[in-house]
Amino acid sequence: MTTEPTSAIETLPPHLPAQLQDWFTWLHRHPELSFHEEETAEYVAAQLRGLGYSPREGVGFGPTGQRLYSVVAVLGADRPGPALALRADTDALPIQEATELPYASLRSGAMHACGHDAHTAMLLGGAAALKAEDERTPWPGPIVLIFQPAEESPPGGALGLIEAGVLEDPPVGAIFGLHVGNKDVGTFSIAGGARNAASDRFKIVVRGRGGHAAAPHKAVDPIVTAAHVVIGMQSIVSRQVPPRQPAVITIGMIHGGTKSNVIPEHVTLEGTVRTLDPEVREQMPVRITQVAEGICAAYGASAEVDYRRGYDVLLNEPAMAELARQAVVQVAGEDGLQSAEPGMGGEDFSRYLQKVPGAFITIGAGSPEVPYEERPGGHNPRSCVDPRALTYGVAFYVALARRYFAQR
Ligand code: NI
Repeated sequence: MTTEPTSAIETLPPHLPAQLQDWFTWLHRHPELSFHEEETAEYVAAQLRGLGYSPREGVGFGPTGQRLYSVVAVLGADRPGPALALRADTDALPIQEATELPYASLRSGAMHACGHDAHTAMLLGGAAALKAEDERTPWPGPIVLIFQPAEESPPGGALGLIEAGVLEDPPVGAIFGLHVGNKDVGTFSIAGGARNAASDRFKIVVRGRGGHAAAPHKAVDPIVTAAHVVIGMQSIVSRQVPPRQPAVITIGMIHGGTKSNVIPEHVTLEGTVRTLDPEVREQMPVRITQVAEGICAAYGASAEVDYRRGYDVLLNEPAMAELARQAVVQVAGEDGLQSAEPGMGGEDFSRYLQKVPGAFITIGAGSPEVPYEERPGGHNPRSCVDPRALTYGVAFYVALARRYFAQR
């Protein structure tokens, strides 16, 4: 029986905070986009080898058959299962960083703007701290550390890892992951059910008939038509979705035309749909197609709608969410446990939770010195993680492992 320390953070290896900072700043400086995390994977594997692990690299395949830049390490592989699995995502976003941090991205057009650098650093820290614990008192079962690429690009990296058997060898009993959030450093929030929305994508090509800008009556203007489609989409959520059901439709891309005095042949719109309720999700392709086709027909144009399902709703398993809450209270006290609302972002951690129980937890990474409303949040060129959050994440992993093996 391991004795429970009073402060989980104080029992971490003393050099760990400095090491976490090093890992985090290296990762932040070297962002790589989804399915291209080659250097990140090499770096992670090298750090794991330095910690005494024998990581496996390139586990699983992506959607076009390419090997994933994934890294998987197991502590105590020969011990009896079921194992505890911990997952971090490793990819960055196509955003030009505007933080002016001393360790800002060295790569133009790429940035860790969703905190995956912090997630990866925290799991490396977990690898170090869990190993240090293990040398004092061996964990009774295996711990699987999954460094997953390509979370930001559906179908995502989780699918390939799962298909390659990452949850089966050794058999995983529960999986957990951390994602940074905007609340104060030293806090966590854990949803008991839905944590992330289902996220789908669509593309609409509005086809008109090109012509001279000075003779619009002889053309069918896809730009004016597309403008009406954009506005029409906005009434789907407000008029066709039950008011108590959360839903979002955002058109994030609109492309058309080559010159100010030419009416183009077509305009392309691309957008995303977020829902929590499966019935609402089912209706969305129909509604969007109806609105697009109906509006286009009214203007003499036509619409081609391509709707693709993305990640499913992420559902935390209540008993595992409770286990995580207990670990949080040990690390951050009762005050450290904040209320949790489901967010409308998508997350392919949902794929693991369709196979094994577990929970995805938000760790506060906002600087208390910055007013909450002024914190930029994720997917923003000014996104920034307060690195003081990292030790909390590692202490959480250790406290969680204790609880998991105690109740297993
Ligand atoms: Ni993310």
